[in-house]
Amino acid sequence: MSPLSGKRILVTGGGGFLGGHVLAELRRAGCQGVGAPRQSEYDLTLQHEVRRLLADSRPDVVIHLAAAVGGIGANQANPGAFLYRNLIMGTELIEASMRAGVEKLVLTGTTCSYPRSAPLPLREDDLWSGFPEPATAPYGLAKRVLMAQAAAYREQYGFRTASLLLTNLYGTGDSFHPQNAHVVPAMIRKFAEAKAAHRPCVTLWGTGRATRDFLYASDAARAVRLAAESLDTPDPVNVGTGVETSTAALAHAIAERVGYPGEVRFDTDRPDGHPRRYLDTARCTELLGFEPRVALPDGLDRTITWYLSRAYGRHAARAAA
Ligand SMILES: NC(=O)c1ccc[n+]([C@@H]2O[C@H](COP(=O)([O-])OP(=O)(O)OC[C@H]3O[C@@H](n4cnc5c(N)ncnc54)[C@H](OP(=O)(O)O)[C@@H]3O)[C@@H](O)[C@H]2O)c1
Repeated sequence: MSPLSGKRILVTGGGGFLGGHVLAELRRAGCQGVGAPRQSEYDLTLQHEVRRLLADSRPDVVIHLAAAVGGIGANQANPGAFLYRNLIMGTELIEASMRAGVEKLVLTGTTCSYPRSAPLPLREDDLWSGFPEPATAPYGLAKRVLMAQAAAYREQYGFRTASLLLTNLYGTGDSFHPQNAHVVPAMIRKFAEAKAAHRPCVTLWGTGRATRDFLYASDAARAVRLAAESLDTPDPVNVGTGVETSTAALAHAIAERVGYPGEVRFDTDRPDGHPRRYLDTARCTELLGFEPRVALPDGLDRTITWYLSRAYGRHAARAAA
């Protein structure tokens, strides 16, 4: 039985992509006292609403997923909002949780916090060794500061936090919004639409040479649950697969699965973001016993089937499978 099962758990951002997977993971672990209010009920950028949320829900454990997120385009269009919203939500929630006597708070950070020049694979000890990739720096820096706040609160107040550095996530329930989507759903949508419209060519952002470490969302949710149960260190912990995949390889894998027969081109005038990125996962394995269960081909199949059945109906999903 999960040590969380008798606890009152507050999940911020529970209505989002990762939130859906975390709520399912907590349900599977037998947790019943889970609250996941929406932004319309409590706007976490407002201090009085954060305090009201803590007073109303009186959680033992807080899992903080709420954030302003998106792909490179969304980050470049909203650098100020991404910095402000992520910083203010996290900083107010950490302060209010500490004051409300919360036993533990889990932060979900991002590999966008890593310095652009950090050696590969990315190791937690290099988090502060330089400035992040500029295209996503405001988002990455805000999340980095929250980890510093968590460590400082542990030192001064003995407040227990766990800080995860999540790699690029993908999976069912992701956002496929044309302006805000991350790379995997953005590509799935582009190839599916190009196939439906019989377009001879799909043009993708960047060189195709940028690399990422892609983790299926249910695996990430399990890592979040494990961290809430047992991670007890101020040090951040990478959560990823340790596998490096280029965006060109990803594009071809998705095009094949969607059944898109045309040409794939890269628009090198568009940014790659961080040039190469994959994680050293040794700390996560050691401290949480975490290993991913869903490999990229399987995860892509699940995500594409999910998307096609919603966008084009079950028949299209079966035809592509
Ligand atoms: N997706 C990834 O690839 C990835 C990678 C690394 C780290 N992460 C981290 O994982 C966490 C979850 O990301 P996600 O992809 O699941 O994001 P998401 O789908 O965009 O969900 C974000 C959630 O934040 C909530 N939210 C935003 N502004 C809010 C506000 N002012 N007050 C209250 N709630 C607010 C939204 O609530 P409503 O739905 O109620 O509006 C939404 O449910 C984030 O902390 C993100 O930084 C994600």
